[in-house]
Formats: sequence, C-alpha cells, structure tokens
Amino acid sequence: MPVATPSPAAAKPRCVILGCGGHGRVVLDILVNAGAHDVVGFVDSDRSLAGRRIDGLRVLGSPDDLLRIRQEFDVARAIVAIGDNGVRRDFADRLAALDFELINAIHPSANLARNVSLGRNIVIAAGALVCAHCQIGDSVILNTGCIVDHETLIGTATHVCPGARLAGRVTVESGAFVGIGATIIQSVRIGYESIVGAGAVVIADVAPMSTVVGVPAREIHTFGRTPATAPSVADLQRWMLPELAAGASRP
Ligand SMILES: CC(C)(COP(=O)(O)OP(=O)(O)OC[C@H]1O[C@@H](n2cnc3c(N)ncnc32)[C@H](O)[C@@H]1OP(=O)(O)O)[C@@H](O)C(=O)NCCC(=O)NCCS
Repeated sequence: MPVATPSPAAAKPRCVILGCGGHGRVVLDILVNAGAHDVVGFVDSDRSLAGRRIDGLRVLGSPDDLLRIRQEFDVARAIVAIGDNGVRRDFADRLAALDFELINAIHPSANLARNVSLGRNIVIAAGALVCAHCQIGDSVILNTGCIVDHETLIGTATHVCPGARLAGRVTVESGAFVGIGATIIQSVRIGYESIVGAGAVVIADVAPMSTVVGVPAREIHTFGRTPATAPSVADLQRWMLPELAAGASRP
C-alpha cells in the first residue's frame, strides 16, 4: 500500500494571528500570499468571537488561552496584528514570555533591499518599498505602498501608514505613528510616541509625544515636554533600536 506523502501545507510551520480586526485580516492575507506558514487561527481578546470564522479562519480563543491553543494546535509561532502601537508591543512581549516565536509577515509584492535589517513581529504590506541599509525594529507596521528610503531607522512598535513616504536617513523613534500619505524629508527625527497627521509634510524634527499636521507640519498637541509622562530611559532602551537608545540617553 503506498505511503501518503504529506501535503506541502502540512510541512509548513504553524502560526496564529493575535487580533482579528481589520489589520488582522490584512495580516492573514499577507501570510496566505507569502505562503511560508500554515495559519491555524486567530486569537482575540473579545471572548465572544471564539469559535467564529473570520475570512474563513477560526477564532481559537483569547490571549488567556494561548497555552492551551499552543498544545491543542501544535503551534509555536505567532504574530500580533493589532494597530495600536503600545498594545501590539505589549502582546508581543506576552507571546515571547510564553515562548512563542514571533514571525514577520511580508507581502510578496513588497520590495526590500538585500541589506535591510529586520526585527521580529513586523508587518510589511503590499507594495511597500524599503531601500538600502534601513533598520526596522520589532513590532513595526510598514503599511500598504509606503516608501522607506535609504538608511532610515524605524524604531520598535511604530506604524508607517499607507502611502507615507520617508526620505533617506530619517529616524522614527519607538511608538511613533506616521499617518496616511505623510511625507518626511531627509534626516528628520520623529520623536517617540509622536503622531504625524495624514498628509503632513514634515520638514523639521518632531518632538516626542507631540502631534503635527499640515504642510509644512505644525504642532497641534505637545505632551513630549512633560517629564512625568515621558517613558524612562530603560523603557526607551527596551523599545528602541540600539542607535535610538543611545540617542535617548543623551541629556
Ligand atoms: C492628526 C490627527 C491624529 C489629529 O487628531 P486630533 O488630535 O483628534 O485632532 P483634531 O481632529 O481635534 O484636529 C485639531 C486641528 O488639527 C486639524 N487637523 C487634524 N488632522 C489634520 C490633518 N491630517 N491635516 C491637517 N489638519 C489636520 C483639524 O482640522 C483641527 O484644526 P482646527 O483646530 O483649526 O479646527 C488625525 O486628524 C489624523 O490625521 N490621523 C491620521 C489617520 C491615519 O493616517 N489613518 C490611517 C490608518 S492606517
């Protein structure tokens, strides 16, 4: 009797997607298109979704069920698909503490230079371009069609929204959000936890924890100069790329 050969899908490493909202569906599409993983299900904090199917994929339970899910479905890999930068980073820490291997989801139509360095738990969506010598930290989203030009540093748990364009040698510090269609000129530093509004054109450094909008970008909210709300240097060292952490410890 012939021995059944395993299907190619069975040979792929299994993974779960944490978060089944809009971004979770995008990440599912990317992983299916990339074809490197067998996606076994979603995990979501909303317990009422357990057992439901989202885009054909079952919601297996909540983050509190991760150890059970890991055993029951023999799955050791995961990715966090949550848009909020802080929540995404916290869940990545939680998964890592449970010994899940955090994977990256890179759409086949994204174009990455050969010397780009990548952390983990990263999503790079369809049509994104990442040029030479860029460094992309953990839990970053480079969304649909964004452009990240040469030697740009993207800190941990940041989100570069669809169609945003970052020129060369830009630094995006940890937790920052670059809105849809924003443009950042070369060598500018976007401070940690700051927000760049949709369509803004940023021509000067953005203060940490501030919000800028418009052309050229102007500040509309400033929290970055309030020491009581600023993250500690230890936080920054945990969240940022080494280069950024060095900058953060400067007086
Ligand atoms: C920047 C942003 C976060 C501001 O939100 P907010 O703090 O709630 O600010 P408000 O909506 O109260 O607006 C404050 C002022 O800024 C203006 N403003 C807000 N966003 C702006 C933008 N993107 N461009 C220009 N002006 C903007 C408002 O018109 C308002 O002006 P006014 O005081 O003269 O009336 C938001 O408007 C934005 O652009 N978000 C990005 C969304 C995005 O990229 N989504 C993609 C997800 S993948």
